[in-house]
Amino acid sequence: MSGKSSRLPGFYRLSLAERANLVGEWAGLEPAEIELLAGQGLRNEQANAMIENVVGTYELPLGIAANFLINGRDYLIPMVVEEPSVVAAISNAARLIRAGGGFHTSATDPIMIGQIQVLDVPDMAAALNALAAHKEALLERANCCDKLMVKLGGGARDLEFRPFANSPVGPMLVVHLLFDVRDAMGANAINTCVEDLAPIVADLTGGRTNLRILSNLADRRTATAWGIVPAAALEKDGMNGREVAQWIAEANAFAVIDPYRATTHNKGIMNGIDAVCLATGNDWRAIEAGAHAYAARNGRYTALTDWHVNENGDLYGEITLPMAVGIVGGATKAHPVAKVALKILGVQSASELGQIMAAVGLAQNLAAIKALATTGIQKGHMRLHARQVAMAAGASGAQIQQIADQMVAEKRIHIERARELLHN
Ligand code: MEV
Repeated sequence: MSGKSSRLPGFYRLSLAERANLVGEWAGLEPAEIELLAGQGLRNEQANAMIENVVGTYELPLGIAANFLINGRDYLIPMVVEEPSVVAAISNAARLIRAGGGFHTSATDPIMIGQIQVLDVPDMAAALNALAAHKEALLERANCCDKLMVKLGGGARDLEFRPFANSPVGPMLVVHLLFDVRDAMGANAINTCVEDLAPIVADLTGGRTNLRILSNLADRRTATAWGIVPAAALEKDGMNGREVAQWIAEANAFAVIDPYRATTHNKGIMNGIDAVCLATGNDWRAIEAGAHAYAARNGRYTALTDWHVNENGDLYGEITLPMAVGIVGGATKAHPVAKVALKILGVQSASELGQIMAAVGLAQNLAAIKALATTGIQKGHMRLHARQVAMAAGASGAQIQQIADQMVAEKRIHIERARELLHN
């Protein structure tokens, strides 16, 4: 697969079946897997085994983003998202970064944090001493909870003790277990370990434990992506590439200084990351929570990205964020389409998936702030939005595009106009 290009010119002009076949061939999918892409992926009995009180399934579009070159390898990116423009925009942005040599990524070890809340500690200093003295024994015990994880190269790495002199309920001690979860998202492994350790922590501290749960602020498990867009690649419609690069840097600076803008800026990043989370059966709420808390880690909510004009006049972009994603367990294996999505990505580890997601977030952000800093977001967006409006008015088949085109030409994109056009 490594020799294949993710440049898929004309992909958008193919029928759904042709696109599924092309992706299937590209990724070496079985015919049954290609069918899963094009048909109803999650059957009712599978859905019924996933959650409670199931009455059916809820479909969302699955699209493929093209043009991603990450660490010298081409990837097609499956994305599940309801918002128009996201897939097209990210593919365009990935092409721009490709022109500068593609994305480069890195990741920390997949270390998650489990928390144990300790109250009614009679002597905080003595409790901290006792915990420090038994640190190795506690780590060994944590490793016994998940022998498979240890066998796979993961396991307990460290313990941290965080005393809080004041809280709304008085003094509190918080114990952190740092645990390498390898290719799992890690919630189950972590929660099992902290539940097992809690009685020992209570004994050692003389206190009483209450909550035992992982933290979604996975700031020890981050992924970073960076890339360069040559100024020349930003030249379009008579706009000077160096100038566009500067406008994009200014857009980023706006999000760096202002939480109101940073929230929207980061939301755009998550448009991409959530879509890959959904496609691969990952917990997008966990990733969302972690990303936004990380964006506020220094006490003020800020941008997750840095974009600046480098010494050559080209645009440099970088993102780092927590990436608690897995490729084993949970819906990644239970949802049949998530399994196919992972096969399309061809990832070998959760870390690789997290790095791809960081690149996706960076690309999505570039697409958004480039549009905002140049033509504005509405021009491209409304063209796609018009199709949804036409569908909402009851159009089907070729009518959808015809009515959408007409509404765009008239600059009257609303449901009443779509209904009128449909009835005419
Ligand atoms: C819309 O879903 C996302 C944007 O608002 C992101 C941004 O403003 O950077 C376009």
